[in-house]
Amino acid sequence: MSVQGKEFGRTADGRTVTVYRITNKNGAYVDVLDYGCTLQSICVPNRDGTLTDVCLGYDTVTEYEENDGYLGAFVGRHANRIGKGEFVLNGQAYSLAVNNGPNHLHGGLKGFDKVIWSACVASDRLIFSHTSPDGDEGYPANLMMSVTYCFDDSNTLTLIYDAVSDGDTVVNFTNHCYFNLNGQGTGTATDHLLQVNADAFTENDGDCLPTGKILSVEGTPFDFRTSKPIGRDIGADDENLKNGSGYDHNFVLQGEGLREVAVLSSEKTGIVMTTRTTQPGVQVYTANFLTYRGGKNGTRYSVRDGVCLETQHFPDALHHENFPSVVLKQGEEYHQITQYAFTVKEENEV
Ligand code: BGC
Repeated sequence: MSVQGKEFGRTADGRTVTVYRITNKNGAYVDVLDYGCTLQSICVPNRDGTLTDVCLGYDTVTEYEENDGYLGAFVGRHANRIGKGEFVLNGQAYSLAVNNGPNHLHGGLKGFDKVIWSACVASDRLIFSHTSPDGDEGYPANLMMSVTYCFDDSNTLTLIYDAVSDGDTVVNFTNHCYFNLNGQGTGTATDHLLQVNADAFTENDGDCLPTGKILSVEGTPFDFRTSKPIGRDIGADDENLKNGSGYDHNFVLQGEGLREVAVLSSEKTGIVMTTRTTQPGVQVYTANFLTYRGGKNGTRYSVRDGVCLETQHFPDALHHENFPSVVLKQGEEYHQITQYAFTVKEENEV
């Protein structure tokens, strides 16, 4: 594995953004920006051996600065929604920016996706670090973090998140990569097959905020325990689907520790992406709000042109005691791992 950095562009206020290319011995590679620890490209072989970019992104810093959607970004301090942007921790009330209807989304107005991180290249990994100051976007305590990327010779991309704080705070990190295993910019991803190891999902209200209820997937369009095309039930007459304008839901993952949680695949290219994580949930988001826009290399993106598998703690966990806690106590070590492993299958192979 080798890592090479070069200038990607400049922010509106003149700061340099660097792109790091991590190449493995097969010539497959991942491009990552220090701006938001953003996964800008993931180029892996299809069943013919041709490198295919399976990650949506932009060619310029300006597009990353100006567009919504969090393409490829590292998200924090708290991924997804916190109801009304309010919470109480140790008896003290905190108020965060409300940037998504009545709720707080993905860390606020300037989340970690908009920060230029310090990069350090170790022999087999790329490590970004950043300290978020006490009061950053309204969150308490100084938070010292590192985000590590590895891309090994088996075409497995590993994301490692570490954090420690000098006071009690909340932490829920994710990555917001939009995958299209047919190749980025080739249109809808609803033909992809998806399998998720989840017997249950968290019910949402009309603003995509969990109600606190954990529902069984049995007999619902949310049953991905056996692989099925994402688009098969996406238009079903189902209140939860309508609330998200498609899939935009947290699935309650079976098991604990680093385990396989989902398999996404394309019949067209044969590319299979196996997701493993230490996290308790995954937000399956079918790019329902990805409005028409330009993408990399002159491509165009629109609604449903990618699928995000955002491994995470459950959204709005601060308001639901039945959800795993997102509180990080002073001095405690936060550590989460997610892997996206890329392989290929032959035509019609199950
Ligand atoms: C959320 C969506 C949101 C998207 C982009 C996802 O994680 O669940 O509701 O539109 O991120 O911001």
